[in-house]
Amino acid sequence: MTAVTDFAASLPTPACAWIYSPARLADRLEHLREALAGHTILYAMKACANPAVLAAAVEAADGIECASANELATAAEAGASRLALSGPAKTTREFERAANTEAPMCVHIESVRELDGLAEAGYTGPVALRVNRGPALPGTHRMTGEATAFGLDPRDVPAAAAHAADLGLDVTGFHMHAVSNCLDADAYAGHVHACLAWSHQAARQLGIDLRYVNVGGGLGADPRGEVIDLGALARALEGLDTGGAELVFEPGRYLAAAAGWYLTEIVDLKTVAGQAFALVRGGTHHLRLPAAWGYSHPFTVVAVDRWAHRWPRPRFDEVDLRVCGELCTPRDVLNAGQRVASVAVGDRLVFADAGAYGWEISHDRFLDHPRPLQVVIDGS
Ligand SMILES: Cc1ncc(COP(=O)(O)O)c(C=O)c1O
Repeated sequence: MTAVTDFAASLPTPACAWIYSPARLADRLEHLREALAGHTILYAMKACANPAVLAAAVEAADGIECASANELATAAEAGASRLALSGPAKTTREFERAANTEAPMCVHIESVRELDGLAEAGYTGPVALRVNRGPALPGTHRMTGEATAFGLDPRDVPAAAAHAADLGLDVTGFHMHAVSNCLDADAYAGHVHACLAWSHQAARQLGIDLRYVNVGGGLGADPRGEVIDLGALARALEGLDTGGAELVFEPGRYLAAAAGWYLTEIVDLKTVAGQAFALVRGGTHHLRLPAAWGYSHPFTVVAVDRWAHRWPRPRFDEVDLRVCGELCTPRDVLNAGQRVASVAVGDRLVFADAGAYGWEISHDRFLDHPRPLQVVIDGS
């Protein structure tokens, strides 16, 4: 945090930036590798596609999971040695990009129609059938165990496998991404065991030579700081027998969350109806999660000594501070009330653990304010 706080104080006013530490992603990858004992890790670049963070993932992970033709192109350009393509509503662009990508890849098929598109594009590589099966896992963004737009209904898997065979496509296994931000290590391990068991049974029934079981991402790293217990996950996966299939994980959030900070500057302080407000340069159009999920993102105050104005510098002491952004909507709240000892206009607020699904899901065109700086720091 020291590098970030030093940096936060030094930025020109009015400061607003995304700050990334590729080293933090590399650290998380190392821990995950230990916990997953040699199984394959693909980085889901949708979580954070900052070029420096992506470069660190290309270096440290086994490959990159993509969800669009453009992501495939970006990952290939970044030097990814292996790719996977997931995601709903794939079009000819995705199929053609997959067919013309040089790095080894696997396409995760979401529907029977996608098989036709893929074959038509001339794709000859491995295919995994994405299946919406099993109980819902605890976490956010549940994609399986209930009616969602993702994957095949298990009842449609035999027809999909038969159609793939008719088209000459090589079905090597299954893809079962289920959830995001699962903080329950035992439940996640249960998902892995169940995916393997289900895949072997389905492959036997369908005559598929099972080489690939992808359990998806979903390892928890909450923007409020809580992280899945990798030690507990490793214990619960001890002695896992994959039956000869490659077991693949494709986490995004767990790897990227701690690698990004959002930084804003307080441009105004005021009290309305007894509530203390800080108004900042920036807001939920840059860091959308607090508005989308309805939580308060914790922040650290970085005091700035400089004051270049003739008017007295507004200041609050010992106050529950509501932090709002520059948007014309009462929903632009980054934190609904965090206790702060002292805060002044011109100070910076740093929101940590914001790297996953931060800038990537922003809607920054609203009101046409300047975009935040994108800064990469060495170390963490
Ligand atoms: C298919 C697929 N794989 C992997 C991920 C990454 O999930 P997470 O960031 O929760 O690890 C997602 C996220 O939506 C996804 O849809």
